[in-house]
Amino acid sequence: MKIAVVGTGYVGLVSGTCFAETGHHVICVDNDNSKVEKLKGGELTIYEPGLDTVFLRNTKEERLSFTTDLEGAVKASDVIFLALPTPPGEDGSADLSYVLGVAEQIGHIIDKDEYKVLVDKSTVPVGTAEKVHAVVAKNCKGAFDVVSNPEFLREGVAVDDFLRPDRVVIGTSSERAKETMQRLYEPFVRQGNPIYFMDERSAEMTKYAANSYLATRITFMNEIANLCEKVGANVDNVRIGMGSDGRIGKRFLFSGVGYGGSCFPKDVQALFKTAKEHNYDFKLLDSVMGVNGAQKFKLAEKMSAYFDGDLKGKKIAIWGLAFKPNTDDIREAPAIYTIRELLKAGAEVYAYDPEAMENMKEIFGDQVTFVEHRYDALKDVDALGIVTEWNLFRTPDFNYMGELMKDKVIFDGRNLYNTKDMKELGFYYNSIGRTTIY
Ligand code: UDX
Repeated sequence: MKIAVVGTGYVGLVSGTCFAETGHHVICVDNDNSKVEKLKGGELTIYEPGLDTVFLRNTKEERLSFTTDLEGAVKASDVIFLALPTPPGEDGSADLSYVLGVAEQIGHIIDKDEYKVLVDKSTVPVGTAEKVHAVVAKNCKGAFDVVSNPEFLREGVAVDDFLRPDRVVIGTSSERAKETMQRLYEPFVRQGNPIYFMDERSAEMTKYAANSYLATRITFMNEIANLCEKVGANVDNVRIGMGSDGRIGKRFLFSGVGYGGSCFPKDVQALFKTAKEHNYDFKLLDSVMGVNGAQKFKLAEKMSAYFDGDLKGKKIAIWGLAFKPNTDDIREAPAIYTIRELLKAGAEVYAYDPEAMENMKEIFGDQVTFVEHRYDALKDVDALGIVTEWNLFRTPDFNYMGELMKDKVIFDGRNLYNTKDMKELGFYYNSIGRTTIY
């Protein structure tokens, strides 16, 4: 099959590359010429583990190409994926202008006697497939169907998530489009995982429901952790105890400094907004947003309390800037909130992250000292804050750290270390939802 993917952001690039991997010819389109030139030159524009190998193989074998020419790509393709941004508008609802703008152009391109399948891959509010259909139909001389096919890719493991999905969700009321989508996704579900076909609106809702549920689950656990600190319980034990119930499960139940990233914050807000537009007050999501917003300040609050509210002139090291490990993405990252609070209180911040420093420099510039090596951040600091659980931070040389730091004080927003070990090593160690602070 010939496939066009419009939008070479994170979702478009991963999807296009993985479709090429199963033997299809994929043309990725973007209106950003510099991005297209980089990709053409064999340079990836995002950091995603495992993507480079698949990308290089498929560009070399000429199954994967890049262009700014939307018309040429649409003409050459049977299936066109729309992987365009849907950023939150001022009121929190998803801005569909990119999606509908491209849909309108595609309407002009499809000729008589042609049939194309247009696939919404972006996370879009319920009813978008109908809107896309209407916009394309305005000018279209040929035949087409619009399908909703939400992605469930986690940054850091997106290639694996795409190649081996738990499930594929396809929203379409057209038998013809259903057959095309079945053929396209068949290679990815050979292990026996399902492709669920449903109506377009349910497919669109599934994506928001999944992300909002996961965000709610994390937020619930963060509140349990906060309460554990007050009542003298340990959230690690509570997670195992409750998660062992098959109905709950232990995964995705880790408390920390709040969820971030490009999806959860945006999607929870958009679903809340959709509910409001339909005169439904989704109180639970309102609370989730409020609680998560507060949780992002947790580490800075703990530090401030430790120094009796006076962080002025204190030297603080920060390990981890990305919103989660294995990505350079800092969108809605808790580290932004932590650092902003520390700077506001007059602290000096020394930061290290294996991948996200360039992105964070764009926000803080020279207000923060960015260092080359994790240990370089620790020289003479009054405390270390850990904000992202990179594997690199899991087993550091604590004795060396103790020598470098002015005081052996660690605030851990990701619960990487054992509290008892830290006591034996002579550290003051304050983590999330564990009362044992030494
Ligand atoms: C998410 C969804 O998982 C994915 O299916 C969707 O398509 C896009 O959004 P992503 O944003 O890449 O993926 O990251 P994810 O691993 O889901 O983590 C999201 C946030 O939740 C991160 O800030 C992470 O630190 C936090 N989190 C995750 C927790 O605080 N605790 C957990 O137990 C899991």
